[in-house]
Amino acid sequence: MKSADNVSRLFVCAAQKDEIGRDVAKALKFELKKQGLKTLFSGGQKRKVRVQTCNCLDLCKHCKKGPGAALIIYPEAVTYGDVRPRDAAEIVHEHLGEGRVVKRLLLD
Ligand code: FES
Repeated sequence: MKSADNVSRLFVCAAQKDEIGRDVAKALKFELKKQGLKTLFSGGQKRKVRVQTCNCLDLCKHCKKGPGAALIIYPEAVTYGDVRPRDAAEIVHEHLGEGRVVKRLLLD
């Protein structure tokens, strides 16, 4: 049986008027595959990474009309805002690959 503890989940708000949230999710999936990080290994354990769009996360006051999307990564519960597709490579490499938060995109 699979354990929910062995999964990192990226939830991307797709409540914007345009397709930016869906585009960000697509870009994250693309980068996970490209960078070979669909499965992470840490502390001797395997961890799958899942990306999905969701209804509004209610994390921002502006991304419905702004240029990017908000997302939250579990289990860390780190939230990023104004994320654009071009930020996907950095989030995947830094946050998921190296375990470092991408400070410039952090939501307060
Ligand atoms: S519009 Fe949903 S978190 Fe910003």
